Amino acid sequence: MAFLLITFLLCSSSLYLLFLLRNSQFSRRKLGLPPGNLGLPFIGETLQLISAYKTENPEPFIDARVTRFGNLFTTHVFGEPTVFSADSEANRFILQNEGKLFECSYPSSISNLLGKHSLLLMKGNLHKRMHSLTMSFANSTIIRENLFVDIDRLVRLNLDSWTGRVFLQDEAKKITFELTVKQLMSFDPGEWTESLRKEYLLLIDGFFTLPLPFFFTTYGRAIKARTKVAEALGMIVRKRRKEIVEGDEGKKKDMLGALLEGDGGFSDEEIVDFLLALLVAGYETTSTIMTLAVKFLTETPLALAQLKEEHDEIRARKQDSETLEWSDYKSMPFTQCVVNETLRVANIISGVFRRAMTDVNLKGYTIPKGWKNNVGATASPGNLFSPFGGGPRLCPGYELARVEISVFLHHLLTRLSWVPAEEDKLVFFPTTRTLKRYPINVQRRIKSLSHR
Ligand code: HEM
Repeated sequence: MAFLLITFLLCSSSLYLLFLLRNSQFSRRKLGLPPGNLGLPFIGETLQLISAYKTENPEPFIDARVTRFGNLFTTHVFGEPTVFSADSEANRFILQNEGKLFECSYPSSISNLLGKHSLLLMKGNLHKRMHSLTMSFANSTIIRENLFVDIDRLVRLNLDSWTGRVFLQDEAKKITFELTVKQLMSFDPGEWTESLRKEYLLLIDGFFTLPLPFFFTTYGRAIKARTKVAEALGMIVRKRRKEIVEGDEGKKKDMLGALLEGDGGFSDEEIVDFLLALLVAGYETTSTIMTLAVKFLTETPLALAQLKEEHDEIRARKQDSETLEWSDYKSMPFTQCVVNETLRVANIISGVFRRAMTDVNLKGYTIPKGWKNNVGATASPGNLFSPFGGGPRLCPGYELARVEISVFLHHLLTRLSWVPAEEDKLVFFPTTRTLKRYPINVQRRIKSLSHR
């Protein structure tokens, strides 16, 4: 017993010494790291970070350290020493050197849900090729020529079914899911898409929970749902492959068609992972911005009135036509300001993580090989606002998201009026969202306006 006690005391004191050494100014300077604090052993400053994200303003963690240490600072969060950057120049350098000096880095609990062939996890030349393929499926020309009609139609279809009290966050998610399924594999909403969506909701929950893989945990249920979603997508891939071989494919110009008919020779598993990750990437982000735009507008009547004016003018020009066209989207300057401001205030992706592939010199400091970097996307005195990231991993959906949100706002504003059904609150942990899914009571606007 005495032996055990002595061993325990020796171990804890040496760990504590190690911690002191690690944390001392001396060792930090010797390593050439940016200034900062590694916090407590093992947990570092994770608790401070989490409690900051639980407040109404999520940035006190970064702001306080930027004020104290400058735009580059060292900390220790989620089990790893990490250098945070709120410096535009350093951020550009990190993002542009993707695959050379830095690479993206996700914990295995996230990779298991995404699938190893997802764009977010790909590296090197394959990533380059697939990133540009994804970009080519969501660029302005493709949106204008192919996707816009469906975005307009599916948004109207959804809004026309709203009556009384609706949970805006849930409805916005339904819309973005249906739009993505249509874009990826040309399916219109129906029973199949709805049952896929139910499994998919369980899968998404897995991203924001502790990764305990038991059947009764949220993460365990998410892994199970992932298998079901992958099976459902796999069936569609096999069916389309067969149709192509038999020559009765009916020329569907969607992402699945491009993956099957391009010269990549992808396996079913690769295609399924790729599609699944695209469904994940655009879903939570776009629908949250839709919801928060409405919340912020409701709380800012002047901006709401100005936005209404912009959209009523478009509607008045269109006389009997219910549909929107690309040229209408291009005449929504104030809407774009609303989207930008929502992205800025909502702080939906406050930063992205990278890992140093070698010792890197960054603005006179050294980032040791294997260390994590958090590239801040939030606007601050030293940082440009970059909600869609940058470099080779720039969000391929940046234009598509804008179009979807703008079309949504147009039809919402011209068809419906709403009031919040309850007080709701913006929270930033574990993700940016409203606490009660933003319940609103909706009413049709007078017929003469909405159906002109
Ligand atoms: C408001 C909505 C959106 C926001 C704020 C957003 C933000 C971002 C950010 C910051 C990144 C960079 C991640 C990194 O550097 O590690 C990213 C990547 C990505 N986004 Fe988006 N996104 C949005 C909508 C969409 C949509 C609609 C799609 C659908 C096509 C999409 C697909 C992706 C994909 C596939 C990646 C991974 C790119 C890669 O790793 O090469 N996003 N997004």
